[in-house]
Amino acid sequence: MCGIIGMASKHEFGSNDIIKMLKRLEYRGYDSFGIVTDKGMMEKEVGEIKPVKENRCSMALAHCRWATHGGVTRENAHPHTDCTGNIFLVHNGIISNYQELKNKLVGHKFTSETDTEVIAHFFEESLKTNDIKSSVLEFFRIAQGEFAIVMMLKGDKNLYALKRGSPLSLGLLDDGNVLASDIYAFSDKTEKAIFFNEDEFAIMNKDGYEFYKFLDNMLKPVSKEITVVKWSGTEEKNHFDHYMIKEINEEPEVAERLINSLRTEQKPGLEKLKELIQGAKRIVFVASGSSYHAALLGVYFLNKAGVEAHAVIASEFRNFYLVDDKTLLIAVSQSGETMDVIEALHGMKAKGAKIASLVNVPYSTIQRMSNVSINIEAGQEICVAATKSFVNQVVALTYLASVFGYEKDFSKIPDEIRDVFSQEGKIKQLAKSLKGEKDIYIIGRGYLYPVAREIALKIKEISYIHAEGMMGGELKHGTLALIEEGTPVIALIDNKPEIISNVMEIKARGGRIIAVTNRDDERFQESIRISAHNKFPFSIEASIAGQLLTYYIAKEKGLPIDKVRNLAKSVTVK
Ligand code: F6R
Repeated sequence: MCGIIGMASKHEFGSNDIIKMLKRLEYRGYDSFGIVTDKGMMEKEVGEIKPVKENRCSMALAHCRWATHGGVTRENAHPHTDCTGNIFLVHNGIISNYQELKNKLVGHKFTSETDTEVIAHFFEESLKTNDIKSSVLEFFRIAQGEFAIVMMLKGDKNLYALKRGSPLSLGLLDDGNVLASDIYAFSDKTEKAIFFNEDEFAIMNKDGYEFYKFLDNMLKPVSKEITVVKWSGTEEKNHFDHYMIKEINEEPEVAERLINSLRTEQKPGLEKLKELIQGAKRIVFVASGSSYHAALLGVYFLNKAGVEAHAVIASEFRNFYLVDDKTLLIAVSQSGETMDVIEALHGMKAKGAKIASLVNVPYSTIQRMSNVSINIEAGQEICVAATKSFVNQVVALTYLASVFGYEKDFSKIPDEIRDVFSQEGKIKQLAKSLKGEKDIYIIGRGYLYPVAREIALKIKEISYIHAEGMMGGELKHGTLALIEEGTPVIALIDNKPEIISNVMEIKARGGRIIAVTNRDDERFQESIRISAHNKFPFSIEASIAGQLLTYYIAKEKGLPIDKVRNLAKSVTVK
């Protein structure tokens, strides 16, 4: 959440060059954006990133915001500055003790409600009597929370960057250097990157950089390794109206790419993961949101293969899990930057647990923390909702289960995914009839329960309709009371007789059944046809049917789809 950029170059560049880079980070937050250059130009605006007034400069900072402290206003947009207007900074993270720090900054005039502005005033105060390194040292000592900060001082040739918790990387350009929240900001310009570790501070300018680590209450110089990174992604929507539908349409192709890579270049990684699983006393998946739903499916298929595993929601991990050095934690994360997951891993790594991961964004924090990491090969996902990454997480996890004997024919998967698109016309019609609903229920049993939850999450976040994904058998224990004449219930129906009983119970109370099924049954008033007869492809086809339904409901309602309200793609706060 929030994207930051700081660039210094030997050659002048335009303010809109930075804005273009910032656009590549827009998925991290799109409440407001801002830019400041060393030639004195500052612009901030609420809403999506747009071109700004052209200004030639040789250093600049930029930021896109996902609001945490303070509403979505121009005043709260970054960059923030101090009373003198000599210090500018952009920040990703939360300074949790900002109020305490603010109380000590007596006489300072604050113009925003943000925690970030406090940092600018802190440095204003500290730099009155200290040099920059001493001020940074003091900041590391007293600041609590998470931060990736890039700071520019008027008349100074350096940019100053600090990292604790939130991600930060440095790209080495032919004619300068750039700091950014992630490598995607600059991966079309350079393949050379340096990743900040915890509590690191860098002084960077057009000619070079120095790194320091805050350790034992001191700043100690450290040498850093340059990593060659390849992550091009794609920014084009092509002929599609939204990234969401483009990314759903990419699913057959990315699933095929993943399966091929698991059979070839990722085979050694998979073997290593197999060994870690075999050597562990306890296997726990840790994930959030859609990735958690994929993990639940993975657990189901691994259990079928005789491997005992559990899935735990990352934000609650510490409240539920006992971990020791015989535990293997498997993080599942599209972005590889989700703070709740990182927190869970950090705590447990300290207890000696081994870490494995399934990640989409290469070189991400979670991937770099892992003893072994499988890349899910979905490619850049721009829509805030996980679609193709979810499908590939499920493919990768089922492939892992197949290593333990849960045999499946993966070669048919791309075509089975393609089959879902034959239902697109019907799904569009259904979407029209559902767009005015206030509540939708989705039921599934066994492996279709995580799918029901995933469809519900998609409907909530993209179509703005309250939705609940439930185990079919649980309805009669309470929720059935909410079923009235016409209440829509999407039922995921394979060959289990029990789910039919649940459907009949709903119908008896006037509920409107929309079956997602591979069966012909005249009792279903409306249905979306699934071609698969086996569990794994059924789970994927049903999930995609849910993604398409969600997309077309949101389109009918004229909603923003790729950038829905209140959310951001990379959730880097707790
Ligand atoms: C929903 C969605 C989120 C993410 C969750 C975890 O469509 O995208 O629920 O799944 O925020 O994110 P990652 O997978 O990046 O850890």
